Amino acid sequence: MMKWRTHKCGELTAQQVGQLVVLNGWIQRRRDHGAVIFVDLRDRTGITQVVFNAEYNAEAHKTAHHLRNEYVVAVAGRVMARPEESRNPQLVTGDIEVFADHVEILNEAKTPPFLIEDDAEITEAVRLKYRYLDLRRPKMQRLLALRHAMAQAARGFLNAQGFLEVETPILTKSTPEGARDYLVPSRVNPGQFFALPQSPQLFKQILMVSGIDRYYQIARCFRDEDLRNDRQPEFTQIDLEMSFVDREQVMELMERMIVTIFRDAGGVELPTPFPRLTYAEAIGQYGSDKPDLRFDMPLHDLTAFGSQSQFKVFREAVAKGGIVKALVVKGGAALSRTRIDALGETAKSFGAKGLAWLKVTTDGQLESVIAKFLDASAFRAALPEAQPGDLVLFGADQPAIVHEVLGRIRLLLGKELRLIDTTAWKPLWITEFPLLDYSSEEKRYVFMHNPFAAPMDEDLTLLDSDPLRVRAKAYDMVLNGHEIGGGSIRNHRSAIQLKIFELLGINKDQAQAKFGFLLEALDFGAPPHGGIAFGLDRLVMLLGDAESIRDVVAFPKTQRAQCPLTDAPSTVSQEQLKELRLKLDLVE
Ligand code: AMO
Ligand code: AMP
Repeated sequence: MMKWRTHKCGELTAQQVGQLVVLNGWIQRRRDHGAVIFVDLRDRTGITQVVFNAEYNAEAHKTAHHLRNEYVVAVAGRVMARPEESRNPQLVTGDIEVFADHVEILNEAKTPPFLIEDDAEITEAVRLKYRYLDLRRPKMQRLLALRHAMAQAARGFLNAQGFLEVETPILTKSTPEGARDYLVPSRVNPGQFFALPQSPQLFKQILMVSGIDRYYQIARCFRDEDLRNDRQPEFTQIDLEMSFVDREQVMELMERMIVTIFRDAGGVELPTPFPRLTYAEAIGQYGSDKPDLRFDMPLHDLTAFGSQSQFKVFREAVAKGGIVKALVVKGGAALSRTRIDALGETAKSFGAKGLAWLKVTTDGQLESVIAKFLDASAFRAALPEAQPGDLVLFGADQPAIVHEVLGRIRLLLGKELRLIDTTAWKPLWITEFPLLDYSSEEKRYVFMHNPFAAPMDEDLTLLDSDPLRVRAKAYDMVLNGHEIGGGSIRNHRSAIQLKIFELLGINKDQAQAKFGFLLEALDFGAPPHGGIAFGLDRLVMLLGDAESIRDVVAFPKTQRAQCPLTDAPSTVSQEQLKELRLKLDLVE
């Protein structure tokens, strides 16, 4: 018998009826009806029903008794049309079945810990330990294929635009992107460590100095940070950099790239042009620099109204330089008191002092414990959006707190009240990020994006006088509430770069030690340049409608940054430590 497949399991249709074929795959299911045994044979293209009929071929029928789920087999047989009543229109192969002449068991399989089906109920721990079985499930196969298609679409687009794909080192020096580094000890240079790259940032800028002009890489990045549903300690960027461009060219090209990827890999037509919000607008209107625009419910500014009101909380907040903002929850007057109180507690856990509220009753009255402090007609004038049946939630505090709290409450209510149109695609750009932020913990300036972003020309003079007001030539792309990419125009002159290092508390010597190679490279004729990096995992997660970033990475890490399949990270032998001339002395 010919052992290797002539066809895939998802391929045979009525067209092949009568042909002799060979299929290879895994046993999805076996149904034993005595003289007839049905087997569903699976590979990544789909499923074919194989029939072992004692009358048709007694030998094959006998062997079929030994088949179990997930056995690997080769089946030779003839394609037959299924009887009318047993056709399955759900399956590509639903019109046919293969009558087996011969079956060979290529390998047996232990009973798998879960069924290889999409809706199998499995804990994540088990899925990740038996990842190879988990990946056999159609949903996971689909996500891996989508990831491949998206990466190929990106490559295709960038190749056509004259970008060169260049690999940059994994064993390298620290690249500051705001996370902790993963360190790797050097055996040949005892006591010295490589850092795994948080991004190819430094090398891609140096490639611009080299005249590469347009660089890209589907690059692995490593960041030792606390994990969330859309974060992995190692993840993949579609990373690129361009010379002789301004923000506008980068953003225009990248918008086209993302549109192309979504169209080519997913058949999704993103609405263009992508709207743009400045950072200040996004924070002011949505309390977030990655607003989810799939539902409305903006923040309304009621500072003037609050300062005029008799409600102490509002007046005092404004008197202390704070603001008053409100969310209008359409139809929210139906929410119970218990639910509203719980929202208040949630707001407190986000850093608020409270969450004042009022309901607009069906006859337009204000219903609230604070109603007596408010002038109803002034309120209606200040917030005409609040209509009968609505609930209004207030934040009164310093702007950063109000925006953070109401932004998070907005998102939470959007989900809970199902206000989010889950079929919508809402991409946008956020621009004009502040260059610096002030860390009250560390009592110093920290960078917002990364330290290489160039200040906006019109803000250059503020670098000395009012650094926090300096905006950067930085841009983020946001899709459905996720930051999918970010980048900037860089400092191609070392003097400005040094100045920014200084503001960040990195003095000349430290800058020289950490980034001397970049600063020196800039001095050898660095062209003006800028770029961006997209999170490939996040893009796949969004287009593939995956619940977690772990579903779009073949072998992901858990929330505790471990790999249950390989048991990494793990201890190493004394021998290995000795070679590295390291001695472990773990401190608590
Ligand atoms: P940034 O740090 O914004 O920029 O990263 C770019 C994009 O990478 C994705 N991303 C992540 N995805 C999964 N897990 C993570 N832990 C993670 N961290 C980031 C996000 C993000 O938008 N060098 C700059 C880019 C540049 O300026 O050109 C950089 O790395 O989608
Ligand atoms: P109090 O006067 O502290 O009893 O608060 C009256 C209402 O105002 C309660 O619903 C509080 O949750 C709310 N509240 C208190 N402080 C704030 C604040 N800073 N912002 C918004 N609401 C607040």
